[in-house]
Amino acid sequence: MSEMIRRTYRGVLMVAGGFDGGSAERWLEDGNADLIAFGRLFIANPDLPERLRLHAPLNSPDPSTFYGGGERGYTDYPSLAQERGEAPRSVIDGRWR
Ligand SMILES: Cc1cc2nc3c(=O)[nH]c(=O)nc-3n(C[C@H](O)[C@H](O)[C@H](O)COP(=O)(O)O)c2cc1C
Repeated sequence: MSEMIRRTYRGVLMVAGGFDGGSAERWLEDGNADLIAFGRLFIANPDLPERLRLHAPLNSPDPSTFYGGGERGYTDYPSLAQERGEAPRSVIDGRWR
């Protein structure tokens, strides 16, 4: 279906669904999409861009915490920095301003 959309739609195409870092890169390199969105992997990895850049291991999402409840499963997945024992820090710093 994405091939058909690519042929007929001239705008920016963002796709999502089951991507990991490798498959996202392949889709972009092959020109099948302009942007890849991540859902579950971003929920489980607050520093997903850094992890993908470093080819670091990813936390696995826990579906039992999706769609409601409290903060568990939304704010308590560790970042790489936390796994290294460092204090949590903002991912928005001077590089992005
Ligand atoms: C807990 C949860 C909440 C979601 N909420 C939304 C939403 O509010 N709006 C939306 O368009 N997609 C929502 N999605 C779908 C994601 O944006 C994404 O399309 C889907 O998870 C497939 O991508 P993935 O394989 O990277 O997870 C949600 C997915 C999950 C797991």
